[in-house]
Amino acid sequence: MNHRLPVLMGRHVLLREPARQDAGRLFEYASDPRVTRYLAFDSPRAVEDILEFIAECERWRQQDREYVYVIADRATDEALGVIGLRHIDPQLGTAQVGTWVRRASWGTGVNREAKALLFDFAFGPLGLHRLEARIATVNERSRRAFERLGAAREGTLRESFRKNGVVLDQELYAILASEWAARKVAGHQAARPGAGRSEQEESRNPSPATRDSHG
Ligand SMILES: CC(C)(COP(=O)(O)OP(=O)(O)OC[C@H]1O[C@@H](n2cnc3c(N)ncnc32)[C@H](O)[C@@H]1OP(=O)(O)O)[C@@H](O)C(=O)NCCC(=O)NCCS
Repeated sequence: MNHRLPVLMGRHVLLREPARQDAGRLFEYASDPRVTRYLAFDSPRAVEDILEFIAECERWRQQDREYVYVIADRATDEALGVIGLRHIDPQLGTAQVGTWVRRASWGTGVNREAKALLFDFAFGPLGLHRLEARIATVNERSRRAFERLGAAREGTLRESFRKNGVVLDQELYAILASEWAARKVAGHQAARPGAGRSEQEESRNPSPATRDSHG
């Protein structure tokens, strides 16, 4: 894609391409080992690693290799995490979804709304019909989050992932365009109330959807 990715506007978050001014926040959030525990990359060593990642995102987009979005608070435009499509195969009409969100936004609906925006984009303008996720079997939080959006677990990819020298199984999840469309007709909400509110707002006026959970 030679032109930039479209901004995907949600009620509480928006998805836009990463920018250099996101580097400080992304560095801080990705430095939390709870965030990178089951990710293919390790926590960055310096903010320059994030700047390099941001430059790579631009190259990957031009090659139609990966479409990477920053998840940003709609009100403040502050980065909250990253979501993207990789292994995009226009011939097969498939791609893989990857997401990480800063620890303070877990359980707030940010992830759910971001994924819903990405699914709408992938199954709509991009014309894909199948989105996959490969999730470490032990990453129950991420598995549950994907299941709650209607994805089906299709099987176990045995010893398909290695993190910090430990070999792990992954679960293969997928959602089809037809399933996503049916969910929307059935009226499933893309986001819970309270999604995307700032930590300050949350502490002033906690939402029942916001809870401290492990992961
Ligand atoms: C994966 C991630 C984006 C999900 O976002 P989130 O805000 O934490 O997820 P959600 O709140 O939307 O959903 C989590 C679900 O798992 C449940 N859950 C939480 N901890 C759990 C656990 N230990 N076991 C099982 N379920 C758990 C929650 O209750 C929630 O389910 P519910 O909606 O039915 O209540 C976020 O946790 C993250 O950034 N993790 C680190 C990066 C990562 O591992 N990414 C995935 C790589 S495949």
